[in-house]
Amino acid sequence: MQPTHTLTETAAWQKLEALAAAPQPTLRELFAADPQRGRNFAAEGAGWYLDYSKQRIDGDILSALLDLARECGVEQRRDAMLRGEKINITENRAVLHTALRAPRETDIRVDGQNVVPQVHAVLDRMADFARKVRSGEWRGFTGERIRAVVNIGIGGSDLGPVMAYEALEHYSDRELTLRFVSNVDGTDFAEKVRDLNPAETLFIVSSKTFTTLETMTNARTARRWLLDTLGDEAAVARHFVAVSTNAQEVQKFGIDTANMFEFWDWVGGRYSLDSAIGLSLTIAVGPEQFRDFLDGMHDMDRHFAGAPLEENLPVLMALTGIWNQNFLGACSLAVLPYSQYLRSFAAYLQQLDMESNGKHVTLSGAEVGYDTGPIVWGQAGTNGQHAFYQLIHQGTRLIPCDFIGFARSLNPLPAGEEGQTHQDLLMANVFAQSEALAFGKTPEQVRADGVPEALVPHKTFAGNRPSSTLLARDLTPRSLGALIALYEHKVFVQGAVWNINSFDQWGVELGKVLAQRIAPELGSQQELRHDSSTNALIAWYRRER
Ligand code: F6P
Repeated sequence: MQPTHTLTETAAWQKLEALAAAPQPTLRELFAADPQRGRNFAAEGAGWYLDYSKQRIDGDILSALLDLARECGVEQRRDAMLRGEKINITENRAVLHTALRAPRETDIRVDGQNVVPQVHAVLDRMADFARKVRSGEWRGFTGERIRAVVNIGIGGSDLGPVMAYEALEHYSDRELTLRFVSNVDGTDFAEKVRDLNPAETLFIVSSKTFTTLETMTNARTARRWLLDTLGDEAAVARHFVAVSTNAQEVQKFGIDTANMFEFWDWVGGRYSLDSAIGLSLTIAVGPEQFRDFLDGMHDMDRHFAGAPLEENLPVLMALTGIWNQNFLGACSLAVLPYSQYLRSFAAYLQQLDMESNGKHVTLSGAEVGYDTGPIVWGQAGTNGQHAFYQLIHQGTRLIPCDFIGFARSLNPLPAGEEGQTHQDLLMANVFAQSEALAFGKTPEQVRADGVPEALVPHKTFAGNRPSSTLLARDLTPRSLGALIALYEHKVFVQGAVWNINSFDQWGVELGKVLAQRIAPELGSQQELRHDSSTNALIAWYRRER
């Protein structure tokens, strides 16, 4: 279903351009004009509270943004996705990660067939396998209990499992060691297995295609590492399982398809954590917690599908992002979770957002003519405050921020002598940062502190820097699931407005193809036929390797 509009010609876009060109009130002025702004520009859903009052929007801008979503057919496109229509038109595929967390009785059809029973059949097999590994019923080839699980995958087959395992470590079985190998740099494999015993190690080879160079290289190395110690090909069946859509390649690799956990082409790699790609997570936290995680995603799916646009968290986050990127000139988004458990959340979102919306043509192949996906970056607060926040507060670029925090700590330490807990100090920083960004510190305020005149410009904070804050009571499998689905749907809404295909990733192909061509050239003396720079680089490597 392709919209017929050109985005910049819609009435709402033109209204937004006019609003952006007119003098705009600052955040200070917006808050002064509406004493209830902090509550008026906030919404709740699926256990999350979103405060977007510190975004540089007023009622007119918000209603024009909502009109834009309507004019772009966001609701229709959302419904088409949820119904299983093939909205990934360049690959002719449905986009149904939402089916992966749907309750058993749901009916969602692809090509006339209800996919939910297959989803639950795989979930049941994953639960069964996870229980066996966790209980010690599943043993290694020599009868040892499995004590280490190593997920081998990259991109969507790695970033989600790593992020979610770290996020839910509190709920994990501490008797099991979880490791994640992704980089084709042999150091990754070597360091991750250095202290592991092959007889006690289970490898999960996770790859949607089962052809990815990095994953297949690491998987072959893992098999050699195992067999160097165990010495019998039959050991592979006890120490390797596969997660893939490609049974043929799994078999070719030598993994029995009885030890394969399936998913489907309507699950994008970066949307696959809730498929069998979550097997390592399921083993770590147990199938019940994994179900809670899926239920949290489903909570957010229901909110996204049913809440009016003006109260819809993914829609509000998407639209404020569009305002920042397309009308205020921001080009990045800093994601700043105030939870050490979420230290890899920004890295995970980089793929989710940038692989989805890093596109330059519309669905019909025309150049877009406006900016699309932002550069997503960030790290856990408070560490980032002592690294890059200086630039966010006083640099020359506009960097919108998403702050993420929790009311309760999973590690509530006693208050120190000053009477404040770690958690209070952590959250004080969340609130302080967004306050400082929004309201800054005027030269008059700086002078009132007795600062010498020469230092006044240095100590002045312009403020008026936009941020949103997301809060939940605590970090649980359920709240994490809802948070991930929130960002998935935010990315969807932005892609729908920008009229791009958020579900393909042709941009990663060219580099892959060229690497395959260059790899055999490095160890040979064959004549090089690249550009002069590439030729010289390869020649240097040939000399020095
Ligand atoms: O980076 C490109 C990509 O195709 C991602 O979309 C995907 O998540 C990753 O490679 C890994 O692919 P696979 O799961 O097929 O190994």
